[in-house]
Amino acid sequence: MLTGDRPTGPLHLGHYAGSLRNRVALQDIHQQTVLIADLQALTDHAGRPRDVRRNVLEVALDYLAVGIDPSKSTIALQSAIPELAELTVLYLNLVTLARLERNPTVRSEIELRGFVRDIPVGFLSYPVSQAADITGFRATLVPVGDDQLPMIEQTNEIVRRLASIAGWPVVPECRALLSATPRLPGIDGRKASKSLGNAIALSASPDEIREKVRAMFTDPAHVRASDPGHVEGNVVFAYLEAFDPRRDEVAELERRYRAGGLGDVALKRRLEELLQSLLEPVRSRRELLARDPDRVMAMIRAGTERAQPLVAAVLADVREVFFLSRAH
Ligand code: TRP
Repeated sequence: MLTGDRPTGPLHLGHYAGSLRNRVALQDIHQQTVLIADLQALTDHAGRPRDVRRNVLEVALDYLAVGIDPSKSTIALQSAIPELAELTVLYLNLVTLARLERNPTVRSEIELRGFVRDIPVGFLSYPVSQAADITGFRATLVPVGDDQLPMIEQTNEIVRRLASIAGWPVVPECRALLSATPRLPGIDGRKASKSLGNAIALSASPDEIREKVRAMFTDPAHVRASDPGHVEGNVVFAYLEAFDPRRDEVAELERRYRAGGLGDVALKRRLEELLQSLLEPVRSRRELLARDPDRVMAMIRAGTERAQPLVAAVLADVREVFFLSRAH
């Protein structure tokens, strides 16, 4: 099992619902590697390397705080495994420019970042680097949100192309492991994103949580509590569905909201309490761990040292497909 996150800002509830929750739940039964994807982060942050460096620790703290356990999972730093870069260079020859330009996630990210024509080549080709991440660990299971499905598809195309050139299955195909909430909206109903500032960080303070829940988009047609309201597209319900384990009560609230007679204020109060109690232990674990950053960095180093030989072995196999000998 392999996933990663770009260290470009704090991880948020969208990451939690879409992927982190699955990583924590499955780390007991799968061999899991989690990459802090600082190499991928450069694809749109090359001009801000300090931000990326600083966020490596922040992402590691988020991982540990939600319960990714370094004695069960390997947390590794992407840039410290140069074999991933070489694997990427080899894979770049197995992909066409037209194929990269068709990747719907990359397309929408290009639009969101306003690159227009000034797209860094590294950015357009980051799905290839991601294919190197996944296959470099011979991963077959990738717990991700649904925005990452095009990356999985592209990875498997590379895997098949490599197999057809080699005449043998060099690396395995993979599949996405989607959560029950593969896409959590931001508080404004758009995609939850670090750059849009519409996400609730796992490290959010109680005040931030309160403010963000208050600002959540509900149903503009639901003016008075007695008016019938819409549950679809209502961010508060999206969050209740994602995080409230009392499913029967949520279903009943949805029924009452649709019928009219349930106000946004009461609904938001319930969500706020829920999120406060979900994030309080995460925040306190995080604060404790943050007091000893050297220990966290040592944990990343140890994970990277465990991870690197696995990728080196895969790279040796892939080099053998293309080159004279395994010797460098
Ligand atoms: N592209 C992912 C994101 O933006 C991060 C990532 C890097 C990743 N390498 C990966 C995800 C490998 C899954 C597998 O969140």
